Amino acid sequence: MQWTTEQRYTRIEDIAEKDLTALKEKVDRSPWRQTYHIQPETGLLNDPNGFSFYNGEYHLFYQWFPLGPVHGIKYWYHTKSKDLVHWENAGIAIRPNDDIDSHGAYSGSGIEHNGQLYLMYTGNTRDDQWVRHPKQNIAVMDEKGVIEKWKTPVIDHVPDDYTDHFRDPKVWKENGTFYAIIGAQRTDKTGCVVLYSSPDMEKWTFEGEIKTGLPRFGYMWECPDYFTVDDQGVFIFSPQGIAPDGDHYHNIYQSGYVLGNLDVHTQTIQHSDFHELDRGFDFYAPQTMETPDGRRIMVGWMGLPEIAYPTDAHGWAHCLTLPREITIENGRLIQRPVRELQSLRGIQMEAAAELSNETKTFDSFSGTSFELICSFTIHDAASCGIEIRVNENEKTVITYDAVQKKVILDRTFSGSPVSTDYGTVRSCHLDAECVTFQLFVDSSSLELFVNDGLDVFTSRIFPSDDCTGIRFFASGGRASCRAVKWTIGG
Ligand code: FRU
Repeated sequence: MQWTTEQRYTRIEDIAEKDLTALKEKVDRSPWRQTYHIQPETGLLNDPNGFSFYNGEYHLFYQWFPLGPVHGIKYWYHTKSKDLVHWENAGIAIRPNDDIDSHGAYSGSGIEHNGQLYLMYTGNTRDDQWVRHPKQNIAVMDEKGVIEKWKTPVIDHVPDDYTDHFRDPKVWKENGTFYAIIGAQRTDKTGCVVLYSSPDMEKWTFEGEIKTGLPRFGYMWECPDYFTVDDQGVFIFSPQGIAPDGDHYHNIYQSGYVLGNLDVHTQTIQHSDFHELDRGFDFYAPQTMETPDGRRIMVGWMGLPEIAYPTDAHGWAHCLTLPREITIENGRLIQRPVRELQSLRGIQMEAAAELSNETKTFDSFSGTSFELICSFTIHDAASCGIEIRVNENEKTVITYDAVQKKVILDRTFSGSPVSTDYGTVRSCHLDAECVTFQLFVDSSSLELFVNDGLDVFTSRIFPSDDCTGIRFFASGGRASCRAVKWTIGG
């Protein structure tokens, strides 16, 4: 279905209850509804926003267009959790119903200040000529969860030398001063980020553009984030307009990081090379927060802009990733599923096998929603790996290719196709004799952590209902494998 501009800008407040109920019923009938991931009740979810811990709970908001699987007028939807695992829907947080955000409450972040949660976000506005005027706004949530928007933007214009692609403030506090990093596009159509400072979250001063070693790297940088882990600075952003290069940059847009400490006074960052955060098909616009016990946790959007997904036909699209803890080890960013996720573990099963040029199944190793940890020791096999969500015709294949020294995720036969123009295989380099795959599988997704978080592949898959099989294989020689699996849910 083609959505007209009018339909995209229809607000949920203007929809009859019965139409909303009909949409909900349609969504509920979708075979690909997730069982333990954050997903929208209806419509389209995109970026995680305002990820924070406040008043004894984690708060995680997301970009939401309620009325269908398209990028229409965006709301902030609020979810909260005591444990980063079980999330409660808390309703709409920010409605795009003022002059300062008339065409969408775009992405932003959250920070506690004066006993309240301050949400700084981009108000997307357009004038009669449909020219965009981004505003940076504040909404404040109190201890009762009541959210009030300030009626005047705190940054009401784009500085000279930048276009109207100017959004997604991420705020942090350093030495008593608030800083906000904002994604931007220079007038010469290259991407960058700029820095603002504030003593009080109210008065903001433009400090300047952040000088990086990537002066011409794509045409827009979205959703920036900056933080330190054990004093090591990490700068994350989602650049658009990067061409594929070997195994890298095959999705429509990228998300990645550089390591380096930002000097807020000179707005300079000396940094490492850019690395993709995720090697799968569906990962974008991540955001991080710090837990009360000092861990840095990241959540991403398990989807990409401008790509059609099979659930579109069912009135909804996308979900968020599981929360991952970020550490820096030997100059590399490592991502591990947060330990709280172990509380999802149900029935446990174990298996071990010597595989010699064969594919094996194990009793009761099957399912559509589970965690699986599987370690391979490669003797002389050319490759080995796992097939999941298998039926007669479909399978999702994870391979360690010991000859090419690559981990390969293949969703060519995963079921309903997604964005095949961008390829159906993703791979990354790994040189190891032992390979461990930790998988979180849900009705329509796979998150694969390789060798204890060295690399991660995040992907949606859309298999048929009866794709429950799991198989282990080695080809061109021998490999041994040990696996442990836990059911999740039902
Ligand atoms: C990234 C993004 C952000 C913007 C939001 C709008 O996916 O384009 O830059 O704030 O989505 O929904």
